[in-house]
Amino acid sequence: AGPCDIYASGGTPCVAAHSTTRALYSSYSGSLYQVKRGSDGATTNISPLSAGGVANAGAQDTFCAGTTCLITIIYDQSGRNNHLTQAPPGGFSGPEANGYDNLASAIGAPVTLNGQKAYGVFISPGTGYRNNAVKGTATGDGAEGMYAVFDGTHYNGGCCFDYGNAEVSSRDTGNGHMEAIYFGDNTVWGSGSGNGPWIMADLENGLFSGSSTKQNTGDPSITSRFITAVIKGQPNQWAIRGGNSASGGLSTYYNGARPNAAGYNPMSKEGAIILGIGGDNSVGAQGTFYEGVMTSGYPSDATENSVQANIVAAKYATTSLTSGPALNVGSSVSLRVTTPNFDTRYLAHTGSTVNTQVVSSSSATALKQQASWTVRAGLGNSACFSFESRDTPGSFIRHYNFVLQLSASDGSKQFNEDATFCPQAGLNGQGNSIRAWGYPTRYFRHFNNLGYAASNGGVHDFDNANSFNNDVSFVVNTGFA
Ligand code: AHR
Ligand code: AHR
Repeated sequence: AGPCDIYASGGTPCVAAHSTTRALYSSYSGSLYQVKRGSDGATTNISPLSAGGVANAGAQDTFCAGTTCLITIIYDQSGRNNHLTQAPPGGFSGPEANGYDNLASAIGAPVTLNGQKAYGVFISPGTGYRNNAVKGTATGDGAEGMYAVFDGTHYNGGCCFDYGNAEVSSRDTGNGHMEAIYFGDNTVWGSGSGNGPWIMADLENGLFSGSSTKQNTGDPSITSRFITAVIKGQPNQWAIRGGNSASGGLSTYYNGARPNAAGYNPMSKEGAIILGIGGDNSVGAQGTFYEGVMTSGYPSDATENSVQANIVAAKYATTSLTSGPALNVGSSVSLRVTTPNFDTRYLAHTGSTVNTQVVSSSSATALKQQASWTVRAGLGNSACFSFESRDTPGSFIRHYNFVLQLSASDGSKQFNEDATFCPQAGLNGQGNSIRAWGYPTRYFRHFNNLGYAASNGGVHDFDNANSFNNDVSFVVNTGFA
């Protein structure tokens, strides 16, 4: 059985079921998600390898070979067409054209399920999915349940990495107009014990960890790599539950009355579905989504416990974030441009500016050092890498507003993540393309001989799709210095 078979047996069937990693019904063999590639704008649907099985990641890899791919649709497996697509602007605008949110890279969150590769949905700040015309989800004070599997190590304090029920207008229409799972370490509203991250409920104009509108210490900080997060609500009652998606059961972190503030009892749910954003399209948050559902009716703890057992049996595990020619931690490297007519240039820096410069073995020592980088384990994720300046130890290549710059580490989580990059086989077939860990649609790119974290056809001039594959492919050589 799949999670939605279990919910159906419990009398609380799924009314929306989303996953890029696997079928959530044992009989489901339809499309899980759609990807769109950068080379020609073509789309394809990715289905499970077999009914009830893991996504056919190999089909994605073949379709996306030598180019970039975005996740354009996350299909609803419940048969109700409650699909998730690129979120439109609302109270806040997204960064894409016409105020839409960004779409997720199709390769930002690779995992394995029972040893088979699949991809999750890596939400960077600015990324969001939504459906404002949903059929069958709870409205008003109606009962519902929901769970999602997230990456417990990918979060931030921005508003709001959510999955669940939100406004149909993409605007903040008041307290109680949402009921969504939140995951992160935002402390503007509620919080739990420790420093976070926490599973909370986004009920609009507040993230709630219990009946107090502020801290409720029964809601623990999350430490597991894969996390099952559960929120459910019915008249006068709601609950937060959670557990490690890779082992063990669920614990109840809160179960009781609605928050002690006006507007949350009764609730005024509207029934739209959001992923990665707040109800008003706040786009400041990050996180990774693998699977999730919404139900009709208030699921029993026993039903949810069976769903958790099913998730554990799916055996989520990590896999490599990199491919292509290997980089060795501790070595000095140079990164040679491969774009025709520019291929004597190397990624270098002049002060804090990251640029490309023509360098050779006969260049001055100072220039050789400017074009040499010590490979370090990724400051934000040791499965990827950071690049430390040879002539300015303690300073690293980071992106800021998607411009590459050389900056001294301030040790912050933001710096560490902005200075972490994941090499993959070069998009033009040469060397490596080096994507930003936190923005996997974005790669090291030279543009007008300056360095950027660029996406393929995005809104900035440096995102220009012309010459993208060449401009993001660098041959990694032994450092000049
Ligand atoms: O409730 C927290 C956030 O507040 C909601 O997600 C958003 O709509 C509002 O800004
Ligand atoms: O480069 C994109 C973002 O810009 C970085 O993550 C952040 O530090 C800055 O706001």
